[in-house]
Amino acid sequence: MQINKVCCFGAGYVGGPTMAVMASKCPKQTFVVYDINEQQIEKWNNKQYPVYEKNLDEYINQTLNTNLIFTCDIDIALKDCDIAFLAVNTPSKKYGLGAESSLDISYIDSCLQQIKKYPLTRKLILVEKSTVPIKTCDYINAVLRDKNICVLSNPEFLAEGTAIQDLLNPDRVIIGGALESAQQLASLYEQWVPKEKIIFTNIYSAELSKIVANSFLAQRVSSINSISIICDKIGADVNEISQCVGSDSRIGNKFLKTSVGFGGSCLKKDLLCLIYLCESLQLDEVAQYWKQVYILNEFQKQRFYNLITTSMFNTLRNKIIVILGVAFKANTNDTRESASLMIIQKLQEEQAILRVYDPQGKIDKLEQCQSLDGIFQGASAIVILTEWEEFTKIDYAQAYDEMAKPSYCFDGRNLLQGEVMKSLGFLYYGLGRM
Ligand code: UDX
Ligand code: UDX
Ligand code: ADP
Repeated sequence: MQINKVCCFGAGYVGGPTMAVMASKCPKQTFVVYDINEQQIEKWNNKQYPVYEKNLDEYINQTLNTNLIFTCDIDIALKDCDIAFLAVNTPSKKYGLGAESSLDISYIDSCLQQIKKYPLTRKLILVEKSTVPIKTCDYINAVLRDKNICVLSNPEFLAEGTAIQDLLNPDRVIIGGALESAQQLASLYEQWVPKEKIIFTNIYSAELSKIVANSFLAQRVSSINSISIICDKIGADVNEISQCVGSDSRIGNKFLKTSVGFGGSCLKKDLLCLIYLCESLQLDEVAQYWKQVYILNEFQKQRFYNLITTSMFNTLRNKIIVILGVAFKANTNDTRESASLMIIQKLQEEQAILRVYDPQGKIDKLEQCQSLDGIFQGASAIVILTEWEEFTKIDYAQAYDEMAKPSYCFDGRNLLQGEVMKSLGFLYYGLGRM
């Protein structure tokens, strides 16, 4: 079967950029992105993207209304469609059994109901793109048992801020499920991804691999953060440890940067999903192993807040504190699960006066400064929570002159050079280094 038409349920972080890149690389196929939210569709059609990604514009410009369509019309999406991606949100469940840890697939469910109602005229390959709980494929098959469908799992590994780059040059493409359909899906990727990077697996392996990959990333951050705590006690330097350990090719040097804690919509969610899976399989020791990765991350955020408060003699009331960064990492506007949320709330409870700045990120209902102009005037402390490059270019000598004394700097990303900051007069605190 030749693939001519592809649709995608969900025009969010995953669906929009993924379809834009696919459409540009597969000019012979038509790609329709469908969403129930009209405003979301309008944003894409008006190039007011709901997501901030470098180079996204270029791929939308190449394809929009040639072989890429954004629509709220289910008929435009499903008519004569060969492959349908499911890229709707699957947040942590907020209620009932598994609340806060299992994934909520009610949005997937609503897609299935729409497909069930639709009179398909040909076989439809249905692809799980969003992270889903293990065995969701069985559920899809059960719901759509009277339809001519084949379910595949093809998890997305794009990271925010580098989405386009990750889509263009994926480390691998995983396709789980029946081989014939899997190869048809692969025929799209093969138009730009080298064949040896496409891995065919059974469908449960593909579903699980996404959750495992994100849990491993979380585990690496928690591992290095745990070492930063030891370094603080004994005078070793965690940056040096990262370099020494990471240069072992068996370990690798990526994801070894200590931080105030990992955030974002995926790492915590998928880690909790893995823990829930272990618990539901009554694998207590395995669940405990992964739970500790989560506990350590919460501890790291708490520890940073404790450091700020105790260093300032437990009295932050009416002191001005400049918060640099609210996004969960640099080069994104996303603040979901960002460590900044907890730190800011704690500092507000201490009755500090906060001046918050981020070049892109915005926390709901929080007043933020639009620029760095005058932000340091009279402030007692600078707290760095996101590793934006802009923060390395600040004139800290001038900032120091403008600040109240003593002037503190708490660097939750080890972004600045401690020695330089100290020589300017700051009481500087990084993570895991003296
Ligand atoms: C280790 C370190 O690798 C080495 O750098 C250090 O100097 C000494 O300790 P070694 O004990 O010789 O070396 O064995 P290694 O190859 O690291 O394996 C350790 C154990 O892990 C073995 O039992 C091995 O079977 C097991 N292992 C290793 C796995 O179970 N799975 C793997 O993927 C790798
Ligand atoms: C992640 C995965 O990387 C991606 O493959 C998956 O598809 C979605 O989830 P993302 O959430 O965009 O992507 O961000 P990521 O770059 O993984 O960073 C997650 C968090 O870990 C951030 O808060 C980041 O600051 C933190 N981090 C990362 C560290 O603290 N140290 C590191 O060394 C790396
Ligand atoms: P992700 O990070 O997984 O892409 P987002 O929240 O950014 O998640 O985007 C998910 C999108 O899916 C939203 O725009 C939402 O409106 C859309 N959506 C939710 N349910 C459906 C559905 N049944 N059909 C189509 N789109 C849906």
